[in-house]
Amino acid sequence: MDSKQAGHCPVTGHGQTPLADMTLSNPKIGAQPNAYYQAMRVEDPVHYDEKLGMWLVSRYDDIVTVLRDPLTYSDKHGYAAQYASGFFQEFKAILERDGGGFFPDAIKDDPPAHTRVRRLLDKAFTAHRVATLEPGITAIITRLIEQLADKAANGQVVDGVNDFAIPLTISVICEQLGISQFNSGKIQRWSSAVTAQIGRMQNREQMLDNAAQICDLQNFIIAEMKARETEPREDMISDLVHATLDDGSKLTFAEAVSLIRALIIAGNDTTATAIGNLLFVLATRPEVATALQASVDDERLMNRFVEELLRIEPPVRGLAKMTTREIELGGRLLPKDAHLLVLYASGNDDETQFTCPRNFDLNRSNIGKHVAFGVGVHRCVGASLSRMEIKVAAREVVRRLADIKLAVPVEQIRYQPTVAVRSIERLPLTFTRR
Ligand code: HEM
Repeated sequence: MDSKQAGHCPVTGHGQTPLADMTLSNPKIGAQPNAYYQAMRVEDPVHYDEKLGMWLVSRYDDIVTVLRDPLTYSDKHGYAAQYASGFFQEFKAILERDGGGFFPDAIKDDPPAHTRVRRLLDKAFTAHRVATLEPGITAIITRLIEQLADKAANGQVVDGVNDFAIPLTISVICEQLGISQFNSGKIQRWSSAVTAQIGRMQNREQMLDNAAQICDLQNFIIAEMKARETEPREDMISDLVHATLDDGSKLTFAEAVSLIRALIIAGNDTTATAIGNLLFVLATRPEVATALQASVDDERLMNRFVEELLRIEPPVRGLAKMTTREIELGGRLLPKDAHLLVLYASGNDDETQFTCPRNFDLNRSNIGKHVAFGVGVHRCVGASLSRMEIKVAAREVVRRLADIKLAVPVEQIRYQPTVAVRSIERLPLTFTRR
């Protein structure tokens, strides 16, 4: 387990393919990207991916530089340039016509506008508040695991992503927001549709389908908001509808819709990916399953397990930023309006920071240094909540299930077609009940 004991690191070299011929938009590279990341870090750390039309930032230090300077590397402009890439005007018109309006993402802004709404969200997701949620989340997770085990006992194939990870994270975020009646399948389709807008891999037909899904999502959110305008409840949608910000202002209607939309999507998609990755790692790396088994009753080790899982299999692969002025980064002079993809996943894999990065190593001295949640002002709002969900899922899975294995050859595991996240689509599993 310890990389020093391991003696040598697994090699991830990219063979004979020249860097210029590789692209993250190639589904094969997107599925197994570590060799591409390594090649960029070594040969061309701020690399122009021709097919994507973006500069890929691959080294840990450069990633941190970008994230610590949100005025030079704009989240707002990077996100806008990424959004519904190639179809933006048509997409916007559909949302205005059928989805109650086009609501730009209020959290995807630059300071100082960003700071105004960010403070509000920070208050909703403090570590203290999240800790009070653990018993309720444990109950949701144990119920789902028992259902999973029943399904397997009846001889049915169990899908770790669609039968467990996704319903789990959807239940948790819906409970927080106060959405009592929900259809997991629908929320999953909404999430994929929103994530596809920053994924750069949708064609026009897919864009039209996704736009219809997002209209449906927004109409749903608007109805939920209206229901709470005169009768607030004890939930996060009511908090957002009636919130007074630090500067005394209220959220606009558009800001409130966009924030609720962001929480529904960010609150389930990424954490579900992390929990899918957890099951994948347990099914394919017996040494990790053994380490988890040995850590399960130790809170400190469980926290380290979660951090190492997020480092080695980060759910968010890369998000966009845009330069607001000419700037040198990683030895490369970038012009104003250069469109960047910040590769958090490559930062987590950077051998100058993490010894033998492909080894799952609970003894790393810098285990919390990964950038899976980002760094700086845009650092993930939901980090405490998702860490807790992953920890409880890991603990309850290993306490209740044994011999978790893939039910299909590993080559058949497919990933969602997007550069933004690296998410397993389906994860057929076999296991026994403890
Ligand atoms: C394992 C799960 C998660 C991962 C890996 C993750 C990762 C990230 C990353 C990389 C960012 C962007 C940082 C940047 O721009 O550099 C981010 C931002 C954000 N995340 Fe998460 N996230 C997760 C779970 C959640 C959850 C559960 C929620 C909400 C309940 C959430 C809400 C948000 C929001 C609202 C932002 C925007 C923050 C801002 O721009 O100020 N995330 N997350």
